[in-house]
Amino acid sequence: MHDAPLLNINGLEAFYGDVQVLWGVSLEVNPGEIVAVIGPNGAGKSTLLGCIMGLVKSRSSGSGPAVLYQGEALDGQKPEEVVAGGIALVPEGARVFPEMTCLDNLLLGAYLNKDRQQRQEVLEQVLGMFPRLKERVNQPAKTMSGGERQMLAIGRALMSRPDFLLLDEPSLGLHPLMTSTIFEGIQSINQQGLTVLLVEQKVTFALKMSDRGYVLEQGRVKLSASGEELMHDSYVKEAYLAV
Ligand SMILES: Nc1ncnc2c1ncn2[C@@H]1O[C@H](COP(=O)(O)OP(=O)(O)OP(=O)(O)O)[C@@H](O)[C@H]1O
Ligand SMILES: [Mg+2]
Repeated sequence: MHDAPLLNINGLEAFYGDVQVLWGVSLEVNPGEIVAVIGPNGAGKSTLLGCIMGLVKSRSSGSGPAVLYQGEALDGQKPEEVVAGGIALVPEGARVFPEMTCLDNLLLGAYLNKDRQQRQEVLEQVLGMFPRLKERVNQPAKTMSGGERQMLAIGRALMSRPDFLLLDEPSLGLHPLMTSTIFEGIQSINQQGLTVLLVEQKVTFALKMSDRGYVLEQGRVKLSASGEELMHDSYVKEAYLAV
């Protein structure tokens, strides 16, 4: 039997004030998948993630809710309610609290979890996944490298024990070696059962590890297919993989 989608977006429209930036976006993420969203700057990728998190005003062009998660409408929910429901966002640009240590940044990600022992267990898991963070637990975040801060931002999101992780350009500004490390981390988290929606500009990297992908352009879904198919699609090749 085919599982119901974990996330179901239907005719999503998003607005900043009166300015519309997404038009009729429909997208699905099934449990256990890695799904990539690619597209040029300003296409609305971050906005899409913002809509899921309840950070951006949205509505559906159809009759039902715009965003369904585990069959329930997220429309109108506050970001903290969305997080409590098991979704975590790693925003663009590795935003961490610079004056706080690596460890305190991680613990902040688990603030909703009142079970001290469980917090400790998750912390061990996260540090096991990113040994670099373990070496730097007491270091102020501002003194960590860009790649380490990105790991920290991902680690902090994982501390809330999400079922569904949204990643906004995790490889931004990173050296290819660090990008590989981060992407291997994402894949290993996925293999442990976490579903991932990934916004990425490093298209080859992203499509290679994704089950499926969507091409978002000017606020609309232009194409969607399996990661493999998109990598060999003539339009994607020309527009995104041009050499
Ligand atoms: N807070 C805001 N207020 C007004 N307009 C905004 C706001 N945030 C984004 N926009 C506009 O919405 C459109 C989509 O922006 P968005 O950040 O979602 O694009 P993106 O695909 O994530 O781009 P990038 O690849 O550069 O991160 C852009 O035209 C942008 O200028
Ligand atoms: Mg963006």
